Amino acid sequence: MEKELLTQFEEFLQTHLPRIDSFHPHFNDALAQMLNAGGKRFRPLLLLSVVQNCEPLLVKNAMYAALSLELLHTYSLIHDDLPCMDDAALRRGNPTLHVSFDEVTAVLVGDALNTHAFNILANAPLSCETKLELINILSRDGGISGMIIGQAIDCEFENQKLSLEQLKFLHVNKTAKLIAASILMGAVICGLDKQTKENLYNFGLKLGLLFQVEDDIIDVTKSSAQAGKTTSNDSNKNSFVNLLGLEGALKSKQEMLKELHDELLNIDSKVRVTLERIVDKYFKG
Ligand code: IPE
Ligand code: IPE
Ligand code: MG
Ligand code: MG
Ligand code: MG
Repeated sequence: MEKELLTQFEEFLQTHLPRIDSFHPHFNDALAQMLNAGGKRFRPLLLLSVVQNCEPLLVKNAMYAALSLELLHTYSLIHDDLPCMDDAALRRGNPTLHVSFDEVTAVLVGDALNTHAFNILANAPLSCETKLELINILSRDGGISGMIIGQAIDCEFENQKLSLEQLKFLHVNKTAKLIAASILMGAVICGLDKQTKENLYNFGLKLGLLFQVEDDIIDVTKSSAQAGKTTSNDSNKNSFVNLLGLEGALKSKQEMLKELHDELLNIDSKVRVTLERIVDKYFKG
């Protein structure tokens, strides 16, 4: 079922790629390059899976919200790879945008995907009330009280060891909030009740933290070719691996997986099964 949703999402993406008519020689190519390069589409899948299981008739309209998440996430990756941030040359199996084109193009494509995410939401075939809530969540968790402050701390504290509590704050903001937002946005589209939304969001925060632990493990266990992105790039970062060691990070991953499965018991059975499958698919092994 998740595979089918991913296929539908790819089709939707292809027909809704941002484009602008102008005499710029390569801006449209640059806009599309990272979106076309693939990626796991983890955040769209979370949102769409919630909708598919709670309000299947709304999946088509929810595609707009799923796309907004992928646009904002892709922008965050393009900026994350810039020389002034993580200085990475490979992303989604392709040269990064500042390598393929130049830094100006990469910065502006990032800016474009960020703002376009909200334009897509504003024009989505959903009620105004729903759209306002979606815009509120995405701008909060993908913005200064989420991804941005996480990225700012990530870069500011390179070469300075944070405490475990600070490390958690960093990763909850940098990664977990946008993942939690993806699930919550699905719940908002379905009009789920306050308590259910809260449970799902809290589950999403835990899932997001696990996602970053796995990402930090990938940095030291996979080659750039295997990961499709520059690895061995976190030596001066406050990664889970640098704080806990690889063994410690692997152990922490297993503990978090167990906690996540326990947390799933609080989740309504309609979405529990699909979330369980997604967790197993991405984190087994
Ligand atoms: C990588 O995100 C950056 C993190 C937040 C850890 P993904 O691992 O979801 O990257 P793609 O979208 O699959 O390329
Ligand atoms: C980036 O984290 C998180 C973002 C908000 C983009 P990382 O810097 O660890 O992501 P990768 O490893 O480059 O994908
Ligand atoms: Mg980074
Ligand atoms: Mg990076
Ligand atoms: Mg990483």
